[in-house]
Amino acid sequence: MPASPAIRPEAGTWLATWLEACAELERLQAQNPMLDAVIDEVDGRRIRVGDRWLIDFASCNYLGLDLDREVIEGIPAYLDRWGTHPGWSRMLGSPVLYKQIEEELRGLLGVEDVLLLPTLTHIHAAVIPVLANGGTVLLDARAHKTIHDGAVIARAHGAGLQRFTHDDPEALERLLRQRPKPPLLVCLDGMNSMTGNPPRLAELLALARAHDATLYVDDAHGFGVVGERGRSETSPYGRRGNGIVRHLGQSYDQLVLTGGFSKAYSSLLAFIACPTPMKRLLKIAAPPYLYSGPSPVASLASTLLGLQVNAGRGDELRAMLYGKTRRVLDHLEKLGAFTLNRSGFPIIEVPLAEADELDQVGRLLFERGIYATLAFYPGVPRHEVGFRLQLTAAHTGDQVDELLVVLDELADRGLLRTSALG
Ligand SMILES: Cc1ncc(COP(=O)(O)O)c(C=O)c1O
Repeated sequence: MPASPAIRPEAGTWLATWLEACAELERLQAQNPMLDAVIDEVDGRRIRVGDRWLIDFASCNYLGLDLDREVIEGIPAYLDRWGTHPGWSRMLGSPVLYKQIEEELRGLLGVEDVLLLPTLTHIHAAVIPVLANGGTVLLDARAHKTIHDGAVIARAHGAGLQRFTHDDPEALERLLRQRPKPPLLVCLDGMNSMTGNPPRLAELLALARAHDATLYVDDAHGFGVVGERGRSETSPYGRRGNGIVRHLGQSYDQLVLTGGFSKAYSSLLAFIACPTPMKRLLKIAAPPYLYSGPSPVASLASTLLGLQVNAGRGDELRAMLYGKTRRVLDHLEKLGAFTLNRSGFPIIEVPLAEADELDQVGRLLFERGIYATLAFYPGVPRHEVGFRLQLTAAHTGDQVDELLVVLDELADRGLLRTSALG
């Protein structure tokens, strides 16, 4: 269904180009029940859409903290003390809960300092232009759209913007050798939101250091799931969920880590981990700090309670999460179906044999009671069009069984891709 003529932009404008690129999304949103759904009810990891109950494999609540009794029962005490939402802008003052979260997070990540802002979208839009500071942003070609938008804002503030092939240190090095205008900011995802794979962080970081650039990493998905390796780890995700940098054994020298609580911690809050002088600068130059209000008290509370659960039971939850993820990955392998995931991370993108069958497959999944994220072009390259499944610690074994039966049916019908490029 086309947008109403009144808001259909004139041909040639960026918005017209964007809408043209997103024609598939517009079509799916108008007709596929898997998109733009109204969720009427939640019962564990089952959701009700109208009269149909589905198992939710589309949420990113990896640790299952959205349903955790310790978190849910702990929140009302915070509301009693703080009300629902103090309305000060952060520049004026912040509930002490912010200080408590920042201190906890500093210790967990092992970083010099931390600044909390409402979302990663706010952080990228506000922080990338400040760190780019009229120099050059070097952007991984598959960096998340919100990073890309932050880079475009940096360009509007006078920075150069250049892209390098996804996760390709040689491509980055070629750009760096051309001596782009400093300061240099190299932006990329941590655990990738579509492939579920980590970046070649050690090589990219070594290059950044050699060329006096800062690596800016968005670990929206990895934080809370992957963490430092150690003998007592309960799964290949490592311990403590302290993010991609610790997971890959790197240090924070010339690296700025951003991450969010909205996925593994089920809370509306995000962070930038950086040296203290950079934090001071951002408190003067980043509009979401100056003018936005705080995250809702329930979110600050669920973050603190989530950090408490993470310290006590996090590795147990991650072991459960890994076990469920492994079952799905092993089953896909048994079916001969291709997936981009080679890490064991709980994001599993399953490409289709034919990109044109996305609408049909989305309907079939919906009818069989499986709620998944449709991965459409150009959100992913055409040969990766398919659906994305996310596992969480709160899925039951029976729910995973039900998913595997539906995957069998899709494979039997020849709808799943069997090799990397079909
Ligand atoms: C890699 C990545 N970065 C940023 C975001 C946006 O996060 P937020 O909800 O904190 O703005 C997402 C959400 O999908 C994401 O996957």
